Amino acid sequence: MDKVDYRKGNYRAVADRLRPAAELLADWCAPQPGHLVVDVAAGSGNVAQLCASRSARVVAVDRVREQLLLGRQDDDAIYWVVGDALDLPLADDVADAALSTFGVIFANPPDQAVRELTRVCRSRGVVGVTAWPDAGFQHAARQAFQEVGAFASGGHDHLAAWGTPERLAQRLGPVADEVEVCTGTLHATFPTLGDWWRSRATTPPVMTARECLDDAGFAELARRLQEAARQFGTETEDGFVLEEGGGLSRGARSGSLTRPARWGCSRSVRLRLGTGQA
Ligand SMILES: C[S@@+](CC[C@H](N)C(=O)[O-])C[C@H]1O[C@@H](n2cnc3c(N)ncnc32)[C@H](O)[C@@H]1O
Repeated sequence: MDKVDYRKGNYRAVADRLRPAAELLADWCAPQPGHLVVDVAAGSGNVAQLCASRSARVVAVDRVREQLLLGRQDDDAIYWVVGDALDLPLADDVADAALSTFGVIFANPPDQAVRELTRVCRSRGVVGVTAWPDAGFQHAARQAFQEVGAFASGGHDHLAAWGTPERLAQRLGPVADEVEVCTGTLHATFPTLGDWWRSRATTPPVMTARECLDDAGFAELARRLQEAARQFGTETEDGFVLEEGGGLSRGARSGSLTRPARWGCSRSVRLRLGTGQA
């Protein structure tokens, strides 16, 4: 197995966890009513649904049909298209924004994926991407998956390609007149570390690993992931809190950019902006 199989596990829980980042990206890139927005590697369409709720016209593209079907049950006002981020099924210069939350970062080679994001955008279009940081829990988890031989990610290391503010800026730099980068943190709260693991164990990466490892290999992966969560998480009065940082980048081909107006907040997950620069 060389890639995560997104048909496995409970993707809705993942989408809930990622939604605050999608809210921030949608706020930051600010699609207007009537704008055409492409949600690239859309999964169940976190970004697509937020933009549609602002009366933008939306095309949600993902290579996994089952992912798109999860979103379609919630919203019929979006065009859901099976397609590859490396070869988007759209003409040149049609979109006002091409956005991706933790999606296009998995497409390899990354430079081609970025070219596709910009190819489909009009000359005043905006490209926005969120990426996981090459640090903290994400870094430790990547090591764990690699070292137990869970799957090879098709030879692509998204943390190495996108995982710092500088790398995010460098990715969009060649295609945008202006690039801005912010960092943020997703906070997930569970009653206990054991509850965190029971939830994490249902996610597509862990479910994919379960299929390709023997019992001893999977037990080692589970041990390593929980160890990483213990290292980077915190026991609080509210329960076990795991912070997973991330970066957001926004590039515009021309036109002025403003700072993000607000950021998302929900009961158990919070996205907080730190500082970052292009
Ligand atoms: C972690 S999920 C994020 C999905 C969504 N953006 C969200 O916020 O929930 C990653 C998604 O990227 C998709 N994906 C990965 N590589 C892709 C590619 N080359 N082309 C299209 N979709 C891709 C996967 O199928 C999966 O749905």
